[in-house]
Amino acid sequence: MRVIASSAETYAFVDRMRTDGKRIGLIPTMGALHEGHLSLVRLAKKNCDVAIATIFVNPTQFGPNEDFQKYPRTLEQDLDVLRNCGCDLVFTPTNDQMYPAGHSTYVEPPNVASHWEGKIRPGHFRGVTTIVLKLLQIIPAHVGYFGRKDYQQVAVIRGMVRDLNLPIVIEACETVREPDGLAMSSRNRYLSAEDRRRALGLSRALGSAQRLIENGCTSGSQIEQCMRDALLAAPVDSIDYAAIVHPETLEPVESILSPVVGMIAARVGTTRLIDNATFTLG
Ligand code: PAF
Repeated sequence: MRVIASSAETYAFVDRMRTDGKRIGLIPTMGALHEGHLSLVRLAKKNCDVAIATIFVNPTQFGPNEDFQKYPRTLEQDLDVLRNCGCDLVFTPTNDQMYPAGHSTYVEPPNVASHWEGKIRPGHFRGVTTIVLKLLQIIPAHVGYFGRKDYQQVAVIRGMVRDLNLPIVIEACETVREPDGLAMSSRNRYLSAEDRRRALGLSRALGSAQRLIENGCTSGSQIEQCMRDALLAAPVDSIDYAAIVHPETLEPVESILSPVVGMIAARVGTTRLIDNATFTLG
């Protein structure tokens, strides 16, 4: 596995691969890798000729009071696990390379960014679309792999790909969960044992919502209340949102006639967690 910090060298490598007719799969990450990330690398290996991961903790997607400084940085372990998964190249740029002095160009995210995470974390998706487009310029991949746990992020990236005519297919891959249901996340490592137990409230709330829908409930607000009740029973410390939304527009849905997505963001201790699930009708 090659590990390259230079964008010019990375571009040259990808260019050679593309000239040789190879299909390139890209897995952008911020490191602190877990099974969720590795499942994306394995899928890229299965469906493409070359799997390229990136590791870069992107400062522009963190708000001033968020965890950019303390975000886990575990480069050596990350490289080990990527090597074991058969990853072909890891791009590990420096901050100066991605944001050279004087950098002032950003990508305005599509409208789907305006809800939920976008409202609570102003500027977050502008940082995400900017870095993802920059990575795609350096690594013009055929397929980009993203985890469905960041459901809105996938919708935002798909919107950007559509609006900017980017020649890439975006694959959204299933959330990987711990045996007890907790969605895998790099931020889970912030949780104390007690917080980890309470964090199960998120997946339990989604499970309760699924059961309610299977039993015939079609009221978005009743299902939202059911998710809130489950979160408060955990108990989580605060709820940013617990919403039933349209799978593409992410607008709230009151009367459920077709599949919807339950989206949750809640705080447990000092850790902010998100989770989601797609619900089909009973
Ligand atoms: O999902 C993430 O880890 C990040 O938002 C991404 C897509 C790598 C952009 O920094």
